[in-house]
Amino acid sequence: MALMNHVYLNGQYLPLSEARVPVLDRGFIFGDGVYEVIPVYSRQPFRLREHLQRLQHSLDAIRLANPHSLAEWSALVQPIIAQAEDEDQGIYLQVTRGPAPRDQAFPEGVTPTVFIMAMPLPAPSPETIEHGVAAITAVDDRWQHCDIKSTSLLANVLLRQRSVDAGCAETILLRDGYLTEGSASNIFIVHDGVLLAPPKSHLILPGVTYDVVIELADQLGLPTSIRPIPEQELRSADEIWLTSSTKEVTAVTHLDGQAIGAGTPGPVYRQLHAAYQAYKHHTMRGHGR
Ligand code: PDD
Repeated sequence: MALMNHVYLNGQYLPLSEARVPVLDRGFIFGDGVYEVIPVYSRQPFRLREHLQRLQHSLDAIRLANPHSLAEWSALVQPIIAQAEDEDQGIYLQVTRGPAPRDQAFPEGVTPTVFIMAMPLPAPSPETIEHGVAAITAVDDRWQHCDIKSTSLLANVLLRQRSVDAGCAETILLRDGYLTEGSASNIFIVHDGVLLAPPKSHLILPGVTYDVVIELADQLGLPTSIRPIPEQELRSADEIWLTSSTKEVTAVTHLDGQAIGAGTPGPVYRQLHAAYQAYKHHTMRGHGR
């Protein structure tokens, strides 16, 4: 495709400014849809298969038939990746239940809306890697289906804004006294050299980066333990990291104004971060999955 910065909408590639969705689309009216954000490095998608498998999980959970096979999705995103301005990008894709007269119950015979675009994907800055970021905590007051990557993100939006208001990079969530995740990331901690993370459940998004981090930790021979993490363990951690497709692995060096460990990214973070960068470069050379 010769044209730049096109998006995909329901079978067509067109300029973003020309992409239109009917106002009665259930994504607009109810947030009745699911999405994925897939990092692309040097125009190579990172863990595309895993992102598309999670999309299938989300679609199954909201009882919406997948409009495309895995092979079709891969083919649909390719022109978007090829014509995007930057070599590194985030592919955003969204499926909603489609346009229908407003009624909470599922409509019959409606075609889902499929949208794909490329977004800029700024890698964490050298400053962030060197110094880490600050976070606050909040009570996780979201619903009980946080494993669905739903476009109904109002609770996450409100929680994330609290950290913006506090001049911080993320809001780390606690439900019933236990760590769940961040408003837009998964959370790991290090305690006495052991890497800890909450188990996958209906209370957290099963992060693709979360899986990568656990795989890399295993390869590095780091002891890991996937188990519930009480608030006290979070607050007394030697290291805290957040992980996501857009933030990669980022050290949280201050929590609610208190220094974590020495208040700088810790040694285990540095080890894992180096391994993550090496793995990314492996993907860039076309060896990713
Ligand atoms: N968010 N938890 C939540 C609530 C998230 O929104 C995200 C990612 C993650 C990390 O998942 P992954 O490693 O697969 O990106 C965990 C994306 C980036 C977003 O909504 O922009």
